[in-house]
Order: sequence, then C-alpha cells, then structure tokens
Amino acid sequence: MPDLIEKAAKQISEAKSVVALTGAGISVESGIPPFRGKGGLWEKIDPMSVAHIDALKKDPEMVWRVLIKSMKLVLDEARPNAGHIGLAELEKLGILQTVITQNVDGLHQMAGNSDVIEFHGTFAWQRCMECNQSIETSQVDMTTIPPQCACGGILRPDAVFFGEMIPAEELMRSQKASANCDIMIVIGTSAMVEPAASMPFVAKNNNAVIIEINPEPTQLTTRISDLSLMGSAGSIMPRLVKAVQKRLEPL
Ligand code: APR
Repeated sequence: MPDLIEKAAKQISEAKSVVALTGAGISVESGIPPFRGKGGLWEKIDPMSVAHIDALKKDPEMVWRVLIKSMKLVLDEARPNAGHIGLAELEKLGILQTVITQNVDGLHQMAGNSDVIEFHGTFAWQRCMECNQSIETSQVDMTTIPPQCACGGILRPDAVFFGEMIPAEELMRSQKASANCDIMIVIGTSAMVEPAASMPFVAKNNNAVIIEINPEPTQLTTRISDLSLMGSAGSIMPRLVKAVQKRLEPL
C-alpha cells in the first residue's frame, strides 16, 4: 500500500485541478452508518418504503418517525473525521478545488472545505411541503411529528429523496467540475446511485486519473479506477496528505 499512496501523492501534487467525489463511507468513522454493505441502513429497511418521495407524501409521519428523526439524532452528534479533515487539508494546500458529496451531513463544510456541492441536498435545512418556506433544522420543534410550518404545512428535509431530481444547479456544477478535473479522488461511495455514479465516468472520459479510497472494491474499481487505495478514509487520507505535503516542500 505505501507505494500506492506515494504514487497517488505524486500525481496529486503535480495535478492542476483535483476534485473529490464522496459518499456515505467517508462519514462512517464519524458514527453515521452507510446505506449499503456492512451495517448499511438499507440492509435493515427498504429505502423505497421510507426514502422515496411517494412514501413521504403518502405517510409523512411514518417517514419522519422511521427515517428522519433517527437520522437527525445521529447527525446532531457527528463531527468531521480524519477523512474529511484530509480533504480540507488538500484545499488548504491549494490542491483540491471542489468536493462533490452525496452526503447530507454537512461534515465537509464543518471540516473546512469551502466549495462543497451537496448533490443530494442537505439535512441542515427543512422545507415546507405547502408554502416551500425554508427553516434551519436546528430551529425546528420536533416535539410534534411530522413538524409543521407556521402555515400549517408539513416540513421535510431539503435532501433529495428517491424519485426526485437532483437540483439543476448542483448537477450542472458537478458535471462541469468532473469534466474539467485532471484527478478525481472518489472516497466512500458504492457508486450505485445515478446520476452521482456517472461523475467518475465524466471525469474519466475527459482523461482524468481516478483515485479510489474504499475498504471494498466497487463497480468503479476494475472499470475505471487508476489507483485503488483499499482501506478506510480515516486511515488513508492522513497518510496521503502527508505524502503530498512532503512533495510540496521546497527541496
Ligand atoms: N472509509 C471509506 N469508505 C468506506 C468506509 C470507510 N471507513 N466504510 C464503508 N465505506 C464504503 C463502503 O465500502 C461502500 O462502498 O463506503 C461505501 C458506502 O456506500 P453506500 O452506503 O451505498 O453510500 P453511497 O455510495 O454514498 O450511497 C449513495 O444512495 O441511498 C442513497 O442518497 C443515498 O447518497 C446516498 C446514495
């Protein structure tokens, strides 16, 4: 592995434009379970019955009780781990421009990354399903479930549910960043959900080098990953950043 990290560090330190694509795996070491694989949320509950927009419209109380409330408890406690901090370090080194994240936990911004595209929206805000008014999740009174807007409408997270479109602005910016980078670091995603899973292919089709960080192989690993650093984000990122810093030091 050390030589793979050195190889990745060499390419990253020489790159002109580096973009990261992250998934639930980067937040596992912050105490947020992934959706698929070991301990995955969708191994216990069927996502189509609780995380689809039709389920939310049909039975908002059940979706709030089963999915949203439990997610909020976990997200309130979560703090950035060494994986998030490593990406913030790469931005500070002037190496990493943009993080495209599928996560709604806000941990990249908390770690210090300044250009984060929230591909699946965010849990930090709620939106009224009647009047579309936005309110910060931390300001929402959760004693009544589902919580209501001042207008009487029901609130929902500003996150993208299955069956919903990716916000146009986030999709367009992600496609542009993916097409223009010369390295994409893909961390902690099973790359199963479209259109997020297409971003590494957009990068690859524009001659980017794909560096994957994941303890398990994914559908990207054998198809387009140029370097596959097998391990957890929290263990690999600090070593990768250290190796990049060493290469950037004046000789
Ligand atoms: N470090 C890095 N990767 C990890 C770690 C870790 N510590 N632990 C697990 N992983 C990897 C798993 O091997 C898996 O490949 O993270 C990936 C998590 O995959 P998913 O749970 O499918 O998460 P993600 O790819 O982000 O899911 C995409 O699906 O349900 C929707 O909207 C949801 O944004 C989510 C989307």
